[in-house]
Amino acid sequence: MTGSVRPGDLADRKRRGEPIVMVTAYDHGTARIAEAAGVDAVLVGDSAAMTMLGYPSTREITVDELLMLTRAVRRGLATPLLVGDLPFGSYEASNADAVATARRFAEAGVDVVKLEGGGPMAERARAIIAAGIPVMGHVGLLPQHVADADGYRAQGTTADEAMAILHEARSLVAAGCFALVFEAIPAAVVELLMPSIPVPVIGIGAGAHTDGQVLVFHDLVGLTEGRLPRFVERYADARPLLVDAVARYAAATRDRSFPTPAHNYRIAPAELDAVRARLARESGARVREREPGPESPAVC
Ligand code: KIV
Repeated sequence: MTGSVRPGDLADRKRRGEPIVMVTAYDHGTARIAEAAGVDAVLVGDSAAMTMLGYPSTREITVDELLMLTRAVRRGLATPLLVGDLPFGSYEASNADAVATARRFAEAGVDVVKLEGGGPMAERARAIIAAGIPVMGHVGLLPQHVADADGYRAQGTTADEAMAILHEARSLVAAGCFALVFEAIPAAVVELLMPSIPVPVIGIGAGAHTDGQVLVFHDLVGLTEGRLPRFVERYADARPLLVDAVARYAAATRDRSFPTPAHNYRIAPAELDAVRARLARESGARVREREPGPESPAVC
């Protein structure tokens, strides 16, 4: 199964100046929410390492872990383009590794894969594209190169860094990437770079000059605990709502106000009488089994 949004549709949107909307999803429930909200693309991001699995960084999540989440998301989506993130360590060493991993993600149902970085990674992208799987590149902040929260900082804040980002982006475009993610780059730099990028650019922490935006689901609905990056807008405050719901359920269970008769399944009175009668017969039989009969040997 594939989403009805195809990679070429994102290019059409760029041409028409219509912003592209991407959001992460990691399970069937969040995929159904993304589908209902009408986003253009869904990314099963390796941010699942933190949001779903509690790892300290994206570097710990394995291919198998991400594939399980990817299959769940696929089952929930009909329309948006499904983007699968290739996890750290699964594609960098060789083109053969990159193609083999990308094929596993395609078999799990993604429409396209995403990988981080330019330079040698552009060669990995080229090999995957040659194998028939479209690739989304990712430049600027590369979470797979960051071992902990302190490493998350804006990229492209000097002229050298900004030009390095442009060269990485160009290498990915030359390799055939159909779209790029720009992460954590000053908006003023992005504005200068955009005219040099012919493919759709989806930004996260990269300002308003990109062709679209991506946010992490948990951040935008308010499920993330603690401080959020400055680029996140929280569109809901779901965590306190959910904590409150579970706390009220716990309290109701403890004070026995839940469940009520309204939550109960029913049985016809005649069937219930029959259950009572059978229970009485069975317990009578057990009592008789336990009582010693006339021939039973005496127990010393
Ligand atoms: O894994 C992820 O969530 C991402 C986004 C930050 C683009 O790669």
